[in-house]
Amino acid sequence: MAKIAGGFWFIIIVVVLALQFCDGKVMMEYIGATGKPVTFDEVPINDNIDFYFILSFAIDASPSGNPQNGIFKPYWSDALTPDSVSAIKSKHPNVKALASLSGWSLGSTILRWYKPQNSQTWITNAFTSLKSLIETYHLDGIDIDYENFPKHNETFSYCIGELITYLKNQSVISVATIAPYRLTTLPYIELFNNYGDVIDYVNHQFYTDKVRTAKHYFEDFKQRTIEFDRAKVLPSYEVDGRGIQGDAFFDALRVLIENEFDVNGIMIFSADASATTNATRKFYYEQKSQEFLLNLTRV
Ligand SMILES: *[C@@H]1O[C@H](CO)[C@@H](O)[C@H](O)[C@H]1NC(C)=O
Ligand SMILES: *[C@@H]1O[C@H](CO)[C@@H](O)[C@H](O)[C@H]1NC(C)=O
Ligand SMILES: *[C@@H]1O[C@H](CO)[C@@H](O)[C@H](O)[C@H]1NC(C)=O
Ligand SMILES: *[C@@H]1O[C@H](CO)[C@@H](O)[C@H](O)[C@H]1NC(C)=O
Repeated sequence: MAKIAGGFWFIIIVVVLALQFCDGKVMMEYIGATGKPVTFDEVPINDNIDFYFILSFAIDASPSGNPQNGIFKPYWSDALTPDSVSAIKSKHPNVKALASLSGWSLGSTILRWYKPQNSQTWITNAFTSLKSLIETYHLDGIDIDYENFPKHNETFSYCIGELITYLKNQSVISVATIAPYRLTTLPYIELFNNYGDVIDYVNHQFYTDKVRTAKHYFEDFKQRTIEFDRAKVLPSYEVDGRGIQGDAFFDALRVLIENEFDVNGIMIFSADASATTNATRKFYYEQKSQEFLLNLTRV
């Protein structure tokens, strides 16, 4: 009898652990890119979701936009201090913070990937500068958001792939994500094909594909999961932005589920927009996205 009871509890524990593992949903949100006032504290965070803030952006450039051979500096909103990262992480142990690399522009300079004079030097500089920035700001990882490429972009896959590998194998970071958009999928596919093992999530910017209905969103999502890994692609939403808008986004997520796609998380761009939108809709999509993800784990 005691033996049977022991076996019973063993099975219950295994099932509970398995559920926790399979159902870890993630929420990713870009913050700090626009210069609009926003703090971590304002953003609604559900403690049953792995919530990732993506600080935008760490840039390999001087304030006037000149490339620095792999030496990254933080250019996100001044309000996002190292202390505020610590504070939000102690208040919510489920919070992680990433630095997003590059972004579209710095002031009036359009940022682009460039071919380093020496790839090894670039990787070493990037590793060293990011290690220091990650330690200073108590970060957990990086997101790759280069948005413009020269014709010969093969150094991108090598330099970024080696950088992520190096940051992971030295335990500087535990998570790495990539953020391709409509016109940059090719270099990101090359990166993913060569270094997919060290890339945890694909924050494809679905809003740049400009699909506006649930049906078209589903077709687009299906296409992106073929280009990358089905389990790693997250659906995304731009607040007050392009692509599908309003509750149609949640209809689109339901269509994905009806078609047996896993929705393992949601990416939102951005907290800046949500903080400054129409007062009655502040952080509406963050709140509802987390509720949506939690509903999926309650089966
Ligand atoms: C990157 O390089 C590949 C292969 O040379 C090329 O097909 C692609 O168009 C380039 N992508 C961009 C965004 O320039
Ligand atoms: C860590 O990654 C870098 C970059 O790929 C590589 O050169 C190095 O040998 C790796 N070190 C270990 C201990 O795996
Ligand atoms: C704010 O959003 C609500 C709900 O969509 C709408 O009814 C209201 O008119 C909007 N207010 C302003 C000032 O735009
Ligand atoms: C979550 O489930 C509740 C109860 O079934 C439902 O009322 C609510 O609309 C769902 N929320 C979302 C965002 O799907």
